[in-house]
Amino acid sequence: MPLVDMGDMLRAAYAQRYAIGAFDFVSLDMLEGILRGAERARAPVILSVAESHFRHFDVELALAAAVVAARRATVPVAIHFDHGSGIETARRAIAQGCNGVMVDASDRPFAENVRITREVVAMAHRCGVPVEGELGYVTGVEGEDAELHPLDPQPTCPDEAEAYVAETGVDFLAVAIGTVHGRFRGTPELDFERLAAIDRRLGMPLVLHGGSGLAEADYRQLAALGIAKINVFTALADAAATAIRERAAAGEDHLLRLCADVREAVAQEVERTVALFGSAGRAESLDARPWREVEHVVLWNSDGLSEGEVEGLFAEGRQALAAIPGVRRVFTGRAVQAGARFRYCWLVRFAGREVIASYRDHPHHLAFADGRFRPVAADRCTIDFEDLGS
Ligand code: 13P
Repeated sequence: MPLVDMGDMLRAAYAQRYAIGAFDFVSLDMLEGILRGAERARAPVILSVAESHFRHFDVELALAAAVVAARRATVPVAIHFDHGSGIETARRAIAQGCNGVMVDASDRPFAENVRITREVVAMAHRCGVPVEGELGYVTGVEGEDAELHPLDPQPTCPDEAEAYVAETGVDFLAVAIGTVHGRFRGTPELDFERLAAIDRRLGMPLVLHGGSGLAEADYRQLAALGIAKINVFTALADAAATAIRERAAAGEDHLLRLCADVREAVAQEVERTVALFGSAGRAESLDARPWREVEHVVLWNSDGLSEGEVEGLFAEGRQALAAIPGVRRVFTGRAVQAGARFRYCWLVRFAGREVIASYRDHPHHLAFADGRFRPVAADRCTIDFEDLGS
């Protein structure tokens, strides 16, 4: 059961008081290592891409690889967009394969955070995609992640958290209870009392950012107090860098051999941490719905358009329809066989079932379908197919 509903995944973890690792990857080696580690541990896992890392790699390519990796994984996988800045990047992440998104407006005043988060929730929920918001502020370590997370730490206030969840409709909440992004200096002091108070108020899956480098006992306590997702990047990046450094120190200078141990180093770190999170061994018993894309198929014949006019119509439609939230691809085609019952088709791939209704009612679709397409395509057949495997 490869790609699954992330809401189901985190609600199951929350109910059973364990946490699922959400690992940010920045390379193919890391992606493969994460899945190798999760599969060895039989742990459900979340593959994450963080918007703040996008200047280091092409996210469209990275997500295409994650989708392929998830399809062939033997443990439940979700694909998550980490630290998104707002609605447009979240829409793109869903279009490129994410089935969970985070919106991080935690550096803004409360009302603005609520406004930005609500917008993303409304869009993502129309696609069936759950949303993580953040309240309070998790800072970055000086000299490492400080430029990405520059403000002073701000612990999450339980009262505000309750209001934030009610006003935004987020599915999961990231909390600030003493962790930082990057490598800790000294010993982290986690505010478990605060976490327990937030958990009592909200009763929903909570998320911990800055999950690298905590004490082993801390992870167990975090899960016991409602943390259902722990984000990790630095620990994997360090494991990868150490593997490269050791090869370099041994005199290696060829790229392939320098990187030869990265996947295994990442896999071992993933295996170690998911055991601490309590998610090792949960893959087989996890009760989560499979995540299924939908192919919206429209077969049609034109009422007297020339081939050139059909191509113009297709180009216009591709442009208008691809921007609708939840649309992953717009394929337009002409039958190869001259005598086919239908000469043309649209294959519009939706992120999931919920998109059938939100796409139908979207202003771009209504304008194009009613204004341009239907008047010239009376002879047509439309069916939505859900993915049963490919
Ligand atoms: P670390 O880099 O400290 O592991 O934090 C990762 C994180 O929180 C990503 O969202």
